[in-house]
Amino acid sequence: MKSELPILVVGGGIAGLSVALAAAPAPVRLLTRAINPRSTASLLAQGGIAVAVGPGDTPQAHADDTCIAGAFHNDRAMVELLTSQAREAVDWLHALGVPFDTDEAGRWRLGREGGHRCARIVHAGGDATGARVMDALVATARRATHIQRLTGVEVDGLVVRDGVVCGVCLIHPDGRREAMHGRAVVLATGGIGGLFAQTSNPPDADGSGLALAQAAGAALRDLEFVQFHPTALALPGQHSLPLLTEALRGAGARLCDAHGRPLMAGVHPLADLAPRDIVARRVWQAQREGGAWLDARHLGQDISVHFPTVFAACLAHGIDPRIRPIPVVPAAHFHMGGVQVDADGRTSRPGLYAVGEVACNGVHGANRLASNSLLEGVVFGRRLGALLRQLPVPDGGGGRHRIVRRPPALAPAGLMQLRMLMSHAMGPVRSEASLTAALETCAALAARGWQARLAQAMLAAALQRRSSLGAHYRCDTVPAPA
Ligand code: SIN
Repeated sequence: MKSELPILVVGGGIAGLSVALAAAPAPVRLLTRAINPRSTASLLAQGGIAVAVGPGDTPQAHADDTCIAGAFHNDRAMVELLTSQAREAVDWLHALGVPFDTDEAGRWRLGREGGHRCARIVHAGGDATGARVMDALVATARRATHIQRLTGVEVDGLVVRDGVVCGVCLIHPDGRREAMHGRAVVLATGGIGGLFAQTSNPPDADGSGLALAQAAGAALRDLEFVQFHPTALALPGQHSLPLLTEALRGAGARLCDAHGRPLMAGVHPLADLAPRDIVARRVWQAQREGGAWLDARHLGQDISVHFPTVFAACLAHGIDPRIRPIPVVPAAHFHMGGVQVDADGRTSRPGLYAVGEVACNGVHGANRLASNSLLEGVVFGRRLGALLRQLPVPDGGGGRHRIVRRPPALAPAGLMQLRMLMSHAMGPVRSEASLTAALETCAALAARGWQARLAQAMLAAALQRRSSLGAHYRCDTVPAPA
């Protein structure tokens, strides 16, 4: 029946779940690669959610900090939408059962992270905010009768009729293929950290949704802006690294070199709490000069109480952060670029929507401000859900269907090669020579897998932007004027 045609949401992280819940009562089919509904990048988010509720703070000040961190490449209207809706988004999550941490007086405890000029971050379970938010959203979605979940499925194509995206092509866990029709298709597939040698993302945050949009000819934007988190736990040879949240530095932890000398002194007025791109580049440089460490010893036993995730990750790798500084490396963390969308998540392809990290509406500019990503997922996810709820259901008849498929994936050896290539050429410090060489190698790999085709587009965008801006730092050209 026409009214039963579902909204197809690809991806079950915070953005996808926010769309699905806000679309009620319209039927939603949530399509996830993972079998376990909690298994997403959102779950790993240790930073919290930025919201201007502290004394003297305002959404305007939050917007200003977002644009400063973003090197003013941000779309100010999107930023203001984000920061003005932050309180409502946090209240919504709270009402769904997210247990935000409170102080002795019962008020939300506000932390500080890089680029924020005041304490403005709410957390849940200390550094387990992503996990607590996912718990609440997954539980709510399970109870919601309008949402049907299909797990362990790979979406590798889109169904298009008369130029309008009207469905997806699925591969079920048993290898069976299916074309599934929907009233709208939403990509909420997360980021691209999986294309780099070291990332704070899970390995399957590999740009699959972005590549799907690329295959469908949707406009992509700002692909060169990749954020590196300065403090992932240094575990040589490992791909997916545990994060050491920036909130540790907000609580007084300091970056230092092998001799204990402070890394950020004299680099930026906010020192260890400078915007993330600046800290990541300093750590990247220190790496080449003997290594970088995060000294959190002053926290003593408190680290196990306020940062249980970090504490457990360190102990699991034989490092007691109460006793010695923690070795750190920069790791691919967040993609500011993505599928070009408007404020409502519309892509340039009718019927196709995108939200969260896979999308780019310009809110993060050239460098995302800490703790704005979960917020983005909730604010723009709910906005898109509300839009889709009201969308007239298209009638199913008419023109011919066409399938647009993402090319096959790289074999494991090719993917390893690509990750090394991307980390070398598209890391925190880039040059024309390394980008050009990587683009040539990538061209040869592109015929063998979609990840390389996507990487090609990212490398080309980085090559084209000749001056440094935010997270895109070219060591061979002059910085853009401030
Ligand atoms: C962190 O906790 O340092 C990461 C938070 C974020 O990416 O916003």
